Parts: sequence; C-alpha cells; structure tokens
Amino acid sequence: MKHILHVVGARPNFVKAAPVLRAIRQLGIRQTLVHTGQHYDRNMSDVFFTQLEIPEPDFNLEVGSGSHAVQTAEIMRRFEPVVVECKPDIVLVYGDVNSTVAAALVCAKLLIPIGHVEAGLRSFDRTMPEEINRIVTDRLADLLFTPSEDGDANLLREGVPKERIHFVGNVMIDSLIRLLPVAKSFSQNGMPKRFALVTLHRPSNVDSNENLQRILNSLTEVSGELGIIFPVHPRTRQRIEAFGINTERLHLLEPIPYIEFLSLQTRATVVITDSGGIQEESSYLGVPCLTLRANTERPVTVTCGTNTLVGEDKDMLTSELKKILSGKAKKGTIPPLWDGHAGDRIANLLQIL
Ligand code: UD1
Repeated sequence: MKHILHVVGARPNFVKAAPVLRAIRQLGIRQTLVHTGQHYDRNMSDVFFTQLEIPEPDFNLEVGSGSHAVQTAEIMRRFEPVVVECKPDIVLVYGDVNSTVAAALVCAKLLIPIGHVEAGLRSFDRTMPEEINRIVTDRLADLLFTPSEDGDANLLREGVPKERIHFVGNVMIDSLIRLLPVAKSFSQNGMPKRFALVTLHRPSNVDSNENLQRILNSLTEVSGELGIIFPVHPRTRQRIEAFGINTERLHLLEPIPYIEFLSLQTRATVVITDSGGIQEESSYLGVPCLTLRANTERPVTVTCGTNTLVGEDKDMLTSELKKILSGKAKKGTIPPLWDGHAGDRIANLLQIL
C-alpha cells in the first residue's frame, strides 16, 4: 500500500493541495499532511484549511517567518525527522514557495521520490525568489505535474526526461470550480458598483518605497472612477506603514478568506495584481487582469486568458484601465485541462506509477 506525504506551507499551497488530498482520499490511499508553518496567521492559514475542507495537518513545523536562508534551513531541519519517521513512498510538494524547495531538498538527500505539483513554470527572471525555487524543485523532482503545456516545453528544454512529465491541468482551478457556486452566492453588500480588486506582495513591488509609492499613487489617481478594494498582505501592510504612504482613498482590508476573495474576483471590473495564482483565477473567470510585473511564469494567462502585463509602466496601467472602463477589455478563453479534474489526474497517476 502506497503512502503519500504532502508538504504545504503558504496560502497558495493550501488552494493547490486541497483537490489532490481529496482525490487521493477517494482512492483510499494512505496520506500524511505536513504544514511547515511558513504562513501562520489565522487569516493566512486556518481559514483556508476550513473553507477548502483540508484535514488538520498531521504535523505542523511552526517555522514562521525569516530571511530566505533562515526560513528554508529551518523547514529542512524540522522536516527531516518527520519524513524519516513517516517513511512515505512519495512526497508531494506544491508551487514555488520556500516550503516547496526546502522539502524537495530534504527528500532528494534521503532518496525519497518527489512529485512536484505545478512543475515547469518559468518567468526566466532569477531576481524572483520563486523562480529559484521552481528551478531547483523541478531539477530534483521525479514526477513533474504541469498545469499548462508551456511547462512541458520548459522541462523538456532543460533536459527532464519526457516520461517524468505529466500534463495534468491546473489544481488551483479545481478548487475554484468547486467553490465558485458558494462564492457567487456570497453577499457583497456595501461594495462599490465598479471596483478594481488589488493584491500586492512581490518584494520587487512592495519592498521599495519608490515602487510601492508609484503603484499606490496610480491607484489613487483612478479611484475617482472606480473603487479600489485592496486586501493587504501582512508584508505589504508593514511596508505601507514603514514608508508612511497615504492610502486614504483606497479601501484597505485585512487578508481575506478564499471564498470571500473569489466572490470579489467574480464581481470585479478589473483585477490588478502581482500574484501568480490570481492571474490564473481571473483568466478562468473571464475578468480582465492587469499584472504589475514585467514577466509572468504563467504565459497562457496572457496568450489564452484575460491577463495583460503592465510591468512598472504607470502610463500603461492607466491606459489599460481606461480601455477596460470603456468596455474594450481583452476577452480570453480557458486553457486546456483547466477543468476541475487536475487533482483526479494526479491521484490516478500516483495510483498506477
Ligand atoms: C510567500 C511566497 C510567495 C507567495 C506568497 C503568497 C516564498 C519565497 N514566497 O510570500 O511565492 O506568492 O507566499 O502569499 O515562499 N507574514 C505574516 N503572517 C503570516 C505570514 C507572513 O505576518 O502568516 C509576514 C511576515 O512578516 C513575513 C512576511 O509576511 O516576514 C512575508 O512572508 P513570507 O512567507 O516570507 O513570504 P510571502 O511574502 O508571504
């Protein structure tokens, strides 16, 4: 009998792991869940477990925050005895956060097979910590589950043997499809009729006073035409306070739970973000998305979806917003296999491989 161990640590991991955990449970395969504790605030972690119906983790490593080296090392140090004790047949890691690469490094040294869910994505920008995490994790993984065909192409180009790569579709969209009816029925009383839903947390956007100031100024400029709803990541909140930026014309909120956020996305006139997953979710929902980055590791959201990269160009942000407000938003289509069954495909592959 197989034993599968999952490692999750940060908000997007929870959304990706939920459908895989469910599909594996339905096959009756034994599984263990490890939460590294990279995200630990109630509204960054527990709420997601509840709404996505993820079982209580079997282990919580409670690593908390730290520099990249400290956080990665601490996860490795605390994860090693757990994995040695559990002796799983395979460890599944998700996405591109520090918990992903830390767990993969531990398993590779212990010769425990690794499956990487959301493999093959590349921004080709090594200034992003996530890009380093993706490259290293894919290099170490034995099974690589890709969300889109560009992932397969990237891995093949890097010399990953074809038989290790499995195009399964997008697990994040599995969660979205399952909870969309609940999100749609969720009341959003008091929201402006037209609004931009904004999220920002990339170090390149929020750690520099100049960049953060520039972005928030642009949002303030358009706030007369549409409401700016901005659930603020703790990292960004710290920076806004430290830099003393005036945000009085923006509606700043605490980080919000998954279903409430999805509900806001379905109703938004436009989504403005630097997140990876939100580019995918807005594309699936057909809501225009302006991404405040020069590149994306999710190119299908631009080629197929509703996403436009505006980079650091303030004028482009303003002109793209004007287009959307005048009814000329980009129309998109849904990429192949973003159909709500990616988790089932992974579970079925794990059963036979
Ligand atoms: C991490 C991921 C990023 C992902 C994001 C989703 C890495 C390298 N980055 O970024 O890819 O898109 O999660 O949210 O893994 N903090 C809290 N409470 C929490 C968690 C964090 O207050 O529950 C604060 C801490 O001050 C911390 C800071 O947020 O130092 C950043 O957290 P961290 O986990 O290091 O990275 P994220 O920016 O969340």
